[in-house]
Amino acid sequence: MTAANLVAHLRLRPTMLSDLDFVIGVEREPANRPFIAEWERTQHEGAVRFPDFRHFIVEAGPGTQAVGFVILQGCRGQHRSVELKRIVLQTKGQGLGRACVRQLKRIAFRDLRAHRFWLDFKADNQRARALYESEGFVVEGTLREAVSIDGGYASLLVMSILDAEYAARRAAGLEAG
Ligand SMILES: CC(C)(COP(=O)(O)OP(=O)(O)OC[C@H]1O[C@@H](n2cnc3c(N)ncnc32)[C@H](O)[C@@H]1OP(=O)(O)O)[C@@H](O)C(=O)NCCC(=O)NCCS
Repeated sequence: MTAANLVAHLRLRPTMLSDLDFVIGVEREPANRPFIAEWERTQHEGAVRFPDFRHFIVEAGPGTQAVGFVILQGCRGQHRSVELKRIVLQTKGQGLGRACVRQLKRIAFRDLRAHRFWLDFKADNQRARALYESEGFVVEGTLREAVSIDGGYASLLVMSILDAEYAARRAAGLEAG
């Protein structure tokens, strides 16, 4: 399966409780642990059940092969400020992240009618930063030494894209695919 084929078949479907072994397994993979704060199963269960969250399994390829998961939060909030809480993919560097982020922007702005779509990530996560910047997210600032990690602290970078910026990108043909 080529990378282009994987991307062409990318789908998001609602996570079911029976998917949580997979979700927790992906979250705990050594390649992902440095970038993700591990959640308890009950936190994922809450995100599957509570209407303010959207918890999705990412599938790619012609079948129903799961390749990761994503979580949105703030989907019912009065401020229309939706957070991309988490995105974790097993297959990296093949364009699935970009395709996912585009679908998530579509969900946030078109389906959930967000005004602001935002996220944070560890400041040394170069791959995430390159992806979000090239998808129109703007740096809002740094939460300095905001999370404790390995006996020290890591800073978080906050980025966002607003509905008007998304509309301008669509008009410029930057949201295709
Ligand atoms: C971050 C993540 C979602 C990105 O998804 P991905 O499928 O690997 O990313 P893509 O293949 O779509 O690449 C997107 C861009 O990232 C950048 N990138 C890819 N690999 C990179 C690397 N090793 N180093 C730096 N930048 C990189 C490139 O700019 C790339 O765009 P390009 O190929 O058009 O130049 C995925 O790697 C992942 O799950 N990582 C672990 C968890 C995580 O960090 N989540 C984000 C924080 S919550």
